[in-house]
Amino acid sequence: MAGERQSSFRFSGRYRMTGFDKTWLDLREAADHAARDHGLQKQVIDHLAAAHGQTLVVDLGAGTGSTFRAFLPEALHWRWRLVDNDPLLLIEAKRRHAGSARIECMEAHLDAPADSLFFEARLVTASALFDLVSESFLARLVSELAQTNIGLYAALNYDGVCRWDEHHPLDDEVVAAFNVHQRRDKGFGPALGPDATPVLRRLLEEQGFQVALAPSPWRLDKAHAELQRQFIFGIASAAAETGLVEEADVNDWRLARLQQAESSDCLVGHWDLFAFR
Ligand SMILES: C[S@@+](CC[C@H](N)C(=O)[O-])C[C@H]1O[C@@H](n2cnc3c(N)ncnc32)[C@H](O)[C@@H]1O
Repeated sequence: MAGERQSSFRFSGRYRMTGFDKTWLDLREAADHAARDHGLQKQVIDHLAAAHGQTLVVDLGAGTGSTFRAFLPEALHWRWRLVDNDPLLLIEAKRRHAGSARIECMEAHLDAPADSLFFEARLVTASALFDLVSESFLARLVSELAQTNIGLYAALNYDGVCRWDEHHPLDDEVVAAFNVHQRRDKGFGPALGPDATPVLRRLLEEQGFQVALAPSPWRLDKAHAELQRQFIFGIASAAAETGLVEEADVNDWRLARLQQAESSDCLVGHWDLFAFR
């Protein structure tokens, strides 16, 4: 993938992290796991329990294996294929789960996936990924899942909402610019950004899948102050890059928000989805 990378939120600008590096993924993992809808996770577990032996889960954009960890201890009963284009993240996943013979790692670019990607799979999963992809990418994926009768669990798809308890007069303007940035190409064509969940739902229903949805917002309080700070830096950089907000306004907003990172709670909207036939 070309360009700058960070979280399912991807930014470029003066503030830079090294991309989807493990430090950033680790920073967000506790908030991600708390946010995932546990009712939907239970449905996934029941779906796989009914699979009579065919329990290979293919995790797209797996990073260091957060979805695997989110399903522990049940995850240990299933086979996992972790797919990512970043070999360093896959090495880290292997290191963390060296004792599990049930995990295989596959380095692959999802924009040009190998035919063998879904071989023997019962379920495809992805987390914090589909807001980065285009509608045409999802249409191809859903068509492949329909042909092979594989279910889909897609967690933590950003929906465009960032809301703080302590309101700042520039919140709406900065978040709107950030959401414009979220729709820029992240390596898969024009990204769906906040539209990922409704588009994915439509595509799946057109192919005869039953689709269950649940909100999975981050609820960030002072215990997540560092995650809030990194997120604020990212939002500000992305918003500034669009040119839709005056640079001085972005700087004011960033400073005020950083000062409030320990006092103002923040909600970031996401949705989880589970689809099966
Ligand atoms: C926001 S991270 C999410 C990682 C993990 N699913 C999690 O929840 O922690 C997005 C992941 O997608 C991977 N990724 C992005 N573009 C990709 C592509 N074209 N092919 C394969 N993996 C990709 C990144 O390397 C990264 O690990």
